[in-house]
Amino acid sequence: MKAGLAGAALAGWLALCSLAAVPGIAMAQQPLPRIDSANGKHVLMVDDKPFLVLGAQANNSSNYPAVLPQVWPMMERLHANTLEIPVAWEQVEPEEGRFNFSYLEALLNGARENDMRLVLLWFATWKNTGPSYAPMWVKTDTARFPRMRTPAGSAHYALSPHSRTTLEADKRAFVRLMRWLRDHDPDHTVIMVQPENEAGVYGQKRDHSAEANALFAGPIPAELAQRTGKSGSWSEAFGPLADSAFNAWYTARYIDEIAAAGQAVVDLPMYANAALSDPFAAPGTGGGASGGPDMPVIDVWKAAAPHLDFVAPDIYMRDQRQAAEIMRLYARPDNALMIPEIGNAADYARLWWSALGHGAIGFAPFGMDETGYSNYPLGAKELDEQTVEAFASKYRLFAPMAGAWARVAAQNPTWGASKPAGGASQTHRFGRWNAAVQYEEWQFGDRDSPWLESDPHPSAGKQVGGAVIVQTGADEFLVAASDARVRFTLADAGPGESAAMLRAEEGTLAEDGSFVMRRVWNGDQTDHGLNFTSQPVLLKVTMGSYQ
Ligand code: DGJ
Repeated sequence: MKAGLAGAALAGWLALCSLAAVPGIAMAQQPLPRIDSANGKHVLMVDDKPFLVLGAQANNSSNYPAVLPQVWPMMERLHANTLEIPVAWEQVEPEEGRFNFSYLEALLNGARENDMRLVLLWFATWKNTGPSYAPMWVKTDTARFPRMRTPAGSAHYALSPHSRTTLEADKRAFVRLMRWLRDHDPDHTVIMVQPENEAGVYGQKRDHSAEANALFAGPIPAELAQRTGKSGSWSEAFGPLADSAFNAWYTARYIDEIAAAGQAVVDLPMYANAALSDPFAAPGTGGGASGGPDMPVIDVWKAAAPHLDFVAPDIYMRDQRQAAEIMRLYARPDNALMIPEIGNAADYARLWWSALGHGAIGFAPFGMDETGYSNYPLGAKELDEQTVEAFASKYRLFAPMAGAWARVAAQNPTWGASKPAGGASQTHRFGRWNAAVQYEEWQFGDRDSPWLESDPHPSAGKQVGGAVIVQTGADEFLVAASDARVRFTLADAGPGESAAMLRAEEGTLAEDGSFVMRRVWNGDQTDHGLNFTSQPVLLKVTMGSYQ
């Protein structure tokens, strides 16, 4: 249910009413989590307060009570506030119609003990496009739960999004899960739900069953025509993207129906995650799962799935240009940017700064637990101290001020940068100021100074470093960064006008967003730019000029 604030409040009220109607269940104490949107920016609200997801996702098979003790310590090491973790259809409905939520009980109890919020990942019809997490009785009954067909007519591995029977079975189990939450989670330990995981298909672009072929030959649906201004058949409307757009529409409709049925029970924010193509490839040619909420078909998903609060990128591209472009394409006035998965190798951690710069409501490295599994080469070879610290150092700074940051960033111009290949500096204009982020500089002097020779900086050639800047006044900024130098210069200096840093204070944010000072940086700490080490800090910077 995504109809803005009034709609969200109404739905929350209706959910409370339905809860009150359940005998023996206390009224929910806390308002429902929701996403507030204004002026093209978004804030996740939890307990009616801004909330920034300092997240981490557990490994795929960590969704059992016996394994949770290997999950919570990692959350603590990371200073995370939210655990994303699967709930598998096969584990809650191992036999058709017989449900077992004992895992959920252990999970919610553990989350409460560890002061952690949860995002539940419903692994069902689609997990990385395949049905591996569907119960045995689904996987083995291809007559009732049909697989896609290849153009030659043989069975393809993925379940067909055109099967009403599969949809009804998945939806029934999902609704049971949401009812369990309604009855056991009045405080909304669970703040969001992701129905399905990386939906779509690999190896072909869509189902080629007789039913799918007939739909594909027909006109595009009216809602889609209205939203995109396109008309005619799928091929006429979408050209080379036709098969993917078609699969996107029917996959999104399927997931939207599941989300809507779940939200009718508890109206939590819900989203779908995407296995991405290369953002710079011609649409339809850059890989990714066909039909998932990938960049070329975001608009199809928006039209087909109004109950999803947003669609979200799973980022496994370490290249700064690709990652930043992906974030730019998902951060839209009609779509909050949330990164539910990003690789857990240390070099991905610098992308935190770009994510904040794009107004992300959340960020979560994938595969964060102590089970010893590693998804290298996607992520880290090993979760050694240095790798965990690359993420933990950022979360440690933001944990005490996460909600305040979300509030302030949503209300003011915000920009972030992370170190690109080659380490060139990046610049952004804020009113009369240019902010530059530079890399591989010592804290004293300049790398290329002819007067003061120096060794290369230890971060030389390494993929670390970045900064995020919020402009809180014409000449006032909040700056947080790691492994970077930040400088402010006048964008258009008047005749004889020079910039001056009037004050740089280190500190944190109080809950209302006001700055709480710890110390003032001056002298060596500001004479050579604002130099941030691998331990990020927050500065409030006041600039001025003189003539
Ligand atoms: C993306 C998926 O969404 C995750 O569940 C996981 O399979 C990773 N890929 C790879 O480790």
